[in-house]
Amino acid sequence: MNSTPFRARRDALIARMQVAGGGVAMIPTAPERVRNRDAHYPYRADSYFHYLTGFDEPEAALLLIAGKETQSILFCREKNLEREIWDGFRFGPDAARETFGFDAAFPFGELEAKLAELIADQPALWFSMGHEPEWDSRITAALNVVRGQTRAGKRAPAAVRDVRVELDAMRLVKDDDELHIMRRAGVISAAAHVRAMRFTSPGKFEHEVEAELLHEFRRQGCQSPAYTSIVAGGANACVLHYVANNQLLKDGDLLLIDAGGELDGYASDITRTFPVNGRFSGAQADVYNLVLAAQDAAIAAVRPGASFVAPHDAALKVLAQGMLDLKLLTGSLDAVMETESYKRFYMHRTGHWLGRDVHDAGEYKQGEQWQALAPGMVLTIEPGCYIRPADDVPEAFWNIGVRIEDDAVVTATGCEIITSGVPNTITGIEALMAEARQ
Ligand code: GLY
Ligand code: MN
Ligand code: MN
Repeated sequence: MNSTPFRARRDALIARMQVAGGGVAMIPTAPERVRNRDAHYPYRADSYFHYLTGFDEPEAALLLIAGKETQSILFCREKNLEREIWDGFRFGPDAARETFGFDAAFPFGELEAKLAELIADQPALWFSMGHEPEWDSRITAALNVVRGQTRAGKRAPAAVRDVRVELDAMRLVKDDDELHIMRRAGVISAAAHVRAMRFTSPGKFEHEVEAELLHEFRRQGCQSPAYTSIVAGGANACVLHYVANNQLLKDGDLLLIDAGGELDGYASDITRTFPVNGRFSGAQADVYNLVLAAQDAAIAAVRPGASFVAPHDAALKVLAQGMLDLKLLTGSLDAVMETESYKRFYMHRTGHWLGRDVHDAGEYKQGEQWQALAPGMVLTIEPGCYIRPADDVPEAFWNIGVRIEDDAVVTATGCEIITSGVPNTITGIEALMAEARQ
C-alpha cells in the first residue's frame, strides 16, 4: 500500500478548505447493502472516501481538520478475531493509521461521541448533506449536541458546506497515479472486447458473450464491471440502456457491446459494434463508417482550452450531414441542426467525464460557460446512430444501432486514447474476427 497519493489528496483538500475559511470535513464511506435476507451486494467503498484514503473496509469515515493546525483522522472497525474468522482481515485503527498514513485513528464506535467534540468551535462543517440519510441524521445529531453545550461555551459550526464542491473540482483533473490505473483499466477492458469479438458467432446468446467480458475483467484483476454490461444484438442496440442480455445472436445482425472493467476504483467505458457473422453488410458499413468519422472528428476536437462541448459539436456536424447523405433525413444541414431532427437517430451526448464513477464527478459548466478542457481530464467520446423501423426510412437501415466509444485523456497538446487495444475500423474488426475463425 502506497499511501503517498492519498495523503497528497487529503492535503490538497485541506488546503482548499483553508482558503475557503477552514473548518472540519466529514467524509464517510458507503454502507453495506443487503441484497436479500442476510446476503449483501458486493461491497464497494464510496468514491470520495476511497479517493482520499485508499481504504476498502465498510464502517469507516474520514475526518479532516483544516484550521491553523491540520489533522487527518480515520474512524474504522476494530480488530475482531471472531468476525475475522468469518469475514476476513480487518486493519483496526492502529494498523490502519500506520498503513494509510493518518495522523490518528479511532474505533468506528467512538465516532458519535468524538464527532461533537471535533466539530465544536469550528467555523464550518464540510459534508455531503443528502447523500446518505443515515449520515445526515448522524451529522444533525452531532450539531445538536454542540448546540446544547452553548452555556458551556461551545459553538456549533455556523455553516454546513458541501465538501463535494471542492472534491469534484479535484477529481475532475486526474493525478498521475489515477491515470496509471485508468490506462491499465483501459487495456484490460479493450482486451475483454477483443475476447468478445473473437468469441461471437451466429447462434450464441448475448449472455454468453457477456460472460467472456466478465471473464477477462476478472482474469486480469478488475474487481468488477464498472457498470452493467450492454450486450445488444440486432434491434436491441437501439435500446440505449439494454441490459437484459438474454437473446440469441443472429446471422446478419450487428452486436453492440458497451462494457468496461473497474480497476482499483476506476472505470473504463468502451463501446464496440460489429457484425455477428464477422462481415459488415453494405448498409451496416455505411452507418458504421459515419459513426467512426464522427468519432474521429470528435477526438480531433479534444485539446486543452477547447470547450467540453467541442467534441460533441464536431461529431454532430458529421452525423447530421451523414444522415442527409444516407437519406435518413431530408432538408438542409442548417435546418437539421436548427430543428434538431437528428435527435431521432442520435439522442445522447458525445461524452461525459470518466473516473471513479463511470459518469464521473466534475462540473460541466463554469458559470454560463461550458468547462474548458485541461490536461489530466478524462472523458469518453461516444457518438452513435440508432435507426428504428419507420416508413420514411430506407428498409436496409432498419434496426441498425451503432455506437463507438473510447476514453480520452486530455494531454498538453491534444488527447491520448487509452482504449485503443480493440480495433474500431471495419478492416480491423473483420480481420480480427476472420483470424479468430481460423
Ligand atoms: N456505459 C455508459 C455510458 O456509456 O455512458
Ligand atoms: Mn460512456
Ligand atoms: Mn459506455
